[in-house]
Amino acid sequence: MEDRYGRAITYLRLSVTELCNLRCRYCMPEEGLCKKRHEEMLTEEEMIQAVRAAAELGVTKLRITGGEPLVKKNILSICEKAGQVPGIRELCLTTNGTLLPGLAQPLRQAGVSRVNISLDTLDEEKYRYITRIGNLDQAIAGIESALENFDKVKINAVLIGGFNDDEIRDLAELTLRYPVDFRFIELMPMHESEEFGPKAYVPGQEVLARLPELSPVSSDGGVASLYRLPGGLGNIGLISAVSNHFCADCNRIRLTADGKLKPCLHSSQEIPIKGLDYQGMLAAMEQAILSKPAAHPRLSASEISESGRDMNQIGG
Ligand code: 5AD
Ligand code: SF4
Repeated sequence: MEDRYGRAITYLRLSVTELCNLRCRYCMPEEGLCKKRHEEMLTEEEMIQAVRAAAELGVTKLRITGGEPLVKKNILSICEKAGQVPGIRELCLTTNGTLLPGLAQPLRQAGVSRVNISLDTLDEEKYRYITRIGNLDQAIAGIESALENFDKVKINAVLIGGFNDDEIRDLAELTLRYPVDFRFIELMPMHESEEFGPKAYVPGQEVLARLPELSPVSSDGGVASLYRLPGGLGNIGLISAVSNHFCADCNRIRLTADGKLKPCLHSSQEIPIKGLDYQGMLAAMEQAILSKPAAHPRLSASEISESGRDMNQIGG
């Protein structure tokens, strides 16, 4: 259905867990989070019911996110059931990749058609630093198993000045080695990203300045502006989430693992659906779509997101 500004809402991002096996510094606190009570979280049945309601209202694309969706015990069952909901034509998943070596093939069999993998650096020590506990080899192994099992693989890096802006070329050149799209995402000023300070906010344009040989490619309908390196097997994408927000084309709503519909990533408005029956969820979903704001307030180093949650609780 359309929202009040004529935007057709066709895309649901479903966070299936707030938990993660990594602790990325811009995403969640070091100690992890105080685990919410099991009863507060959506059950698998509720998630599937919510997907059915969304599909009835015109959602055709579903992305499973987290936290890290692959730490969820029943992830395969969720994917399989969600992918079978009538109306859902595309089932995608966002992951840090570290658990993909054992799961890529079963996920494919469960109906996942595409995966996006987060990878911010190609340096082992920096990977350990940014994720606090991760192991780069595991993430690379995850990318390779994704390539064996999925037709389309995208890799996302959060661009952080003073951390990985010196690796723009090396990261982009992954598209010379692998048939992947590599996308640079501007760091969004959330509560946990404040520790990086103002210099961390590097505009996506910086990628163009560092890689003058990039040539523009026509959009695939997503939020990234696309380019390609000469000889590239995949595209380079810039997701200018801060410098040039894409609210006017926003087609998405979000559902958190604890059952809150979020009409906008950067707004604190949440509509609870935990415990509702199908009709209740349908009504809540309509309300969420109709309350989508025209745009979120400006974001900058000093104007942090009003989301009220860290990214691991929203799903990006
Ligand atoms: N800014 C931009 N992207 C973020 N992510 C998490 N926190 C932020 C932030 N502050 C991204 C991760 C991953 C997805 C889960 O969300 O890199 O791709
Ligand atoms: Fe986990 Fe992704 Fe957050 Fe890193 S960014 S802590 S991998 S959810």
